[in-house]
Amino acid sequence: MDRIRIVGGERLSGAIPISGAKNATLPLMIASLLTEDTLILDNVPHLADVGQLQRILGNHGVDVMIAGKRPGEDPNHGRTLHISAKNIVDTTAPYELVSRMRASFWVLAPLLARMGVAKVSMPGGCAIGTRPVDLLIMALDKLGAAIEIEGGYVIARARQGLRGGEIEFPKVTVGGTHTAVMAAALARGTTVIENAAREPEISDVADCLNKMGAKISGAGTSRIVIEGVPKLHGARHAVLPDRIETGTYAFAVAMTGGDVLLANARPELLQAALDVLAQTGTTVTPTNEGVRITRNDAQLSPVDVTTAPFPGFPTDLQAQLMALMTRAKGTSHITEAIFENRFMHVQELARLGANIQLDGQTATIEGVKHLKGAPVMATDLRASVSLVIAALAAEGETEVNRVYHLDRGFERLEDKLSACGAAIERISD
Ligand code: EPU
Repeated sequence: MDRIRIVGGERLSGAIPISGAKNATLPLMIASLLTEDTLILDNVPHLADVGQLQRILGNHGVDVMIAGKRPGEDPNHGRTLHISAKNIVDTTAPYELVSRMRASFWVLAPLLARMGVAKVSMPGGCAIGTRPVDLLIMALDKLGAAIEIEGGYVIARARQGLRGGEIEFPKVTVGGTHTAVMAAALARGTTVIENAAREPEISDVADCLNKMGAKISGAGTSRIVIEGVPKLHGARHAVLPDRIETGTYAFAVAMTGGDVLLANARPELLQAALDVLAQTGTTVTPTNEGVRITRNDAQLSPVDVTTAPFPGFPTDLQAQLMALMTRAKGTSHITEAIFENRFMHVQELARLGANIQLDGQTATIEGVKHLKGAPVMATDLRASVSLVIAALAAEGETEVNRVYHLDRGFERLEDKLSACGAAIERISD
């Protein structure tokens, strides 16, 4: 199993290219199930989760062709995927596949909408909490699906097709919104989604679906209206830049000090996080090419932050902010309001010398002068990268074990950081 070794203390300077967003790529790949034509996706990041979803889609009969690089092409450009769900050969997504990646549960809606039936394993718990799927099922029920839960599987049927309906989410849910939008795209009549998630990835998927012939308006607001159409066709779409990767590297630069251009980043996708970064005393400058992050040797100021759905501070940056605040001058408070158990990084950060007290959903972080390198364990994707951020500023050597968590969501992390001067390397046994 690969490990990452980091020797802390180097400032970061240079440029980091931001990849396409994982959390847009996954639902975009799943949206290919809605049409017999080929969907072409550009700017797709090279991630373990993309490969895993490709296997899951393959099980349904979907062909995914990945265009190879041509000589002279910039290695930082994302890849192009040609995805064809011409013949769906199987409408079941088995436990062995779904349990490895929660987002694969989302195949339920497009399979049901196009084929009239789908059987998908319940995803089960994961390191950040229980993460139920009741609201995804509620949305399909409102669109006329008959739903049974049997033997750990959700079986959804709509032999006569889905019909438009009113869906009001009691809680903002990204997966629930993707599910409702994809199902409604092929339903008869109009669907209105209230309290929809406003995450940029929802808008990106809706843009792509509209290129495929769907009639979706209001994506990016909390009210989305969808006029169902009988069929969707092929399209070509470029995945938007990853706002969580952007925020992660921005926090890394704030941690080490330095001056880095996050190329291709779009600041409006993470304004709340960049505002928090500015409060810490880091300079954030939007430029034509992306976002520039600079910090001199002045100490970081502490902050009080609560995670919230977009446009609030993202839960997917909570662990990274906590790593940064371990070195602030004073006391910070970070409240996790989306997932009940997303604090796996706290114990590992403590191994590096952080002083963090947990009380329910709120972490109180007393900044310390020095962190010290130690062996640590990656637990989930965002928790792992928070350990990398802490290690970049820790004295001595840190070894991050179970790196496969990082490979799920960060493309060439060690290359991107070492190109900016970090002492970081991957060790393969
Ligand atoms: N929830 C329910 N019932 C449901 C669905 C959700 O109670 O049926 C609850 C969840 O337990 C949670 C809240 O609603 O408390 C929000 O969950 P949401 O459905 O929005 O999360 P998700 O769609 O499963 C996506 C991202 C996550 C990200 C969350 C929140 C993808 C592939 N995943 O998950 O990303 O944290 O939205 O923004 O888009 C990550 O990339 O590391 C990651 C975990």
